[in-house]
Amino acid sequence: KNGLQVAIDGPASAGKSTVAKLVAKKFHYIYCDTGAMYRSITLKAIRLGLDLNDEEAILNLLKKTRIVFEPGDPVQKVFVDGKEVTNDIRSTEVTNNVSAVSALGSIRSELVKRQQFLARDGGIVMDGRDIGTTVLPQADVKVFLIASVSERAERRYKEDQTKGISVSLDQLKQDIEDRDYKDSHRKISPLKKASDASEIDTTSMSIDDVVKAISRLIENKI
Ligand code: C5P
Repeated sequence: KNGLQVAIDGPASAGKSTVAKLVAKKFHYIYCDTGAMYRSITLKAIRLGLDLNDEEAILNLLKKTRIVFEPGDPVQKVFVDGKEVTNDIRSTEVTNNVSAVSALGSIRSELVKRQQFLARDGGIVMDGRDIGTTVLPQADVKVFLIASVSERAERRYKEDQTKGISVSLDQLKQDIEDRDYKDSHRKISPLKKASDASEIDTTSMSIDDVVKAISRLIENKI
């Protein structure tokens, strides 16, 4: 193995991808945003007008779909079948429909397989909802990041403002709560802290402090 497997899970907008990316950079590890994979297949299914409950149709589509990540600043770039979708997968429409697609068992099995392949040699920081519990149950470091709903909505609000998107704070809170509820209550691999994961509440922590805390966990294992 060329390094550790680091699993970072947690609810929506807890800052997982921001810190996961920085931690990966610090240790020269690969960064894999598994949420972007679920978002990518959701985007493609919406664009093709598929019924998002039609598991067979979405699975057939996923099998023909190539999802590729490329390093980028400030966010990693995402390509679906060679076309960049970095911003498109963050649209409100995708965000509000992704939990339905990610609840489909065969879609999860296919993406989990791809994620395990990416992580096979270690040297990876992977973020998502089920990394520590299902994708990499043997991960060397497991982190469960949480933050209060108001804090997460406020972070999202500020992020949206810089992008020129205007959604009210109350609406964002509602959307975050709905998505967390769906992700925590689905039958297959629900969002759940692995019993051996370290929980970090980032509500009143800076990004830098969170990166330091996770780095310490990694350094203790190297
Ligand atoms: O992390 P992000 O908010 O981009 O994830 C989008 C959605 O993808 C989540 O709300 C969840 O429904 C799904 N997801 C998942 N398992 C993962 C990562 C994301 O079910 N490992």
